[in-house]
Amino acid sequence: MVLREDLRQQYLAAMGIRTWERRRPPARYSGAGAGADLGFAPDELARADGQQLPPQPAESAGPTAVADMDWEALEQAVRGCTLCRLHLGRTQTVFGTGNRQARWMFVGEAPGFEEDRQGEPFVGRAGQLLNAMLYATGLKREEVYIANVLKCRPPDNRDPQPDEARQCEPYLLRQIALIQPRLIIALGRHAAHSLLKTELALGKLRNQRLNYHGIPLIVTYHPAYLLRNPADKRKAWEDLCLGRKLVEAGP
Ligand code: URA
Repeated sequence: MVLREDLRQQYLAAMGIRTWERRRPPARYSGAGAGADLGFAPDELARADGQQLPPQPAESAGPTAVADMDWEALEQAVRGCTLCRLHLGRTQTVFGTGNRQARWMFVGEAPGFEEDRQGEPFVGRAGQLLNAMLYATGLKREEVYIANVLKCRPPDNRDPQPDEARQCEPYLLRQIALIQPRLIIALGRHAAHSLLKTELALGKLRNQRLNYHGIPLIVTYHPAYLLRNPADKRKAWEDLCLGRKLVEAGP
C-alpha cells in the first residue's frame, strides 16, 4: 500500500507524532542492505532462531490437537474453550482478525470491554491508536493480522495470570503457524514476555530484531500505554519503521 505523504502526515499527527523534521522517502526502507545494521537479540532470546514452532499441548482440543487444526477447527476450539476461569465472565471469545496470509502479525495482551462486546481485537480506544499506527506505517488494518495472547477478557482489565496465558498459548501458536507472517510485532510487555519467555523490561526488548522460532519479532509499546504516555509514541514509531525495514528486506 502506498500512502499519500499528506495522508501519512495526518496519521502520524493522529498518533501524536509531530513531524517538522525532514523525512527521507519510503524508498529507504527497501532494497539491498536493508536490515544490515540491525541489533540482534540477547542469546537467550535468539536461540530459537530456525527452530520449528514448539509442540503444542493437545489437552484443550478434544480429539484433534491444536497444533494440527485448520482455521475452522481452531476457531471452533477457541469459541468453546473452558480451560481457564476467564470463560465464566466473557461475553464471547475474541479470536483474532485480519488477513490470514498477512506479512505483519500484531499480538496484543487480552480483549478489553469493547473487544469482549464486539468479538474483535483492538476496537476500543487503544485500537483506534493502533489503526493510526498502522496507517502511519503504510498498512491497512485488513492487510495485517491482529490477535491477543488471551482470547477472553480478564475481569476489570486486570493483567493476564500466568496459568491463563499458558492455557491460551497453543491457540496463538497455531495462529502464528498457520499465518507464517514475515514479522510479528509484540504489543506491550505481556505479549513480549509470553512469546519470548523472558522477563526483561520492555525498554530492553524494543527496537531490535528478535526471533520467534525463526520469525523476526519486534517488541514495541502497547497502544494503551501510549495513550497514557504519549511521549513514547515516537519510540513506537521507530519500532514500526524498523519493522517495515525488515519486512521489505524480505526473508
Ligand atoms: N488491548 C489488547 O491488548 N488487546 C485488545 O484486543 C484490546 C486492548
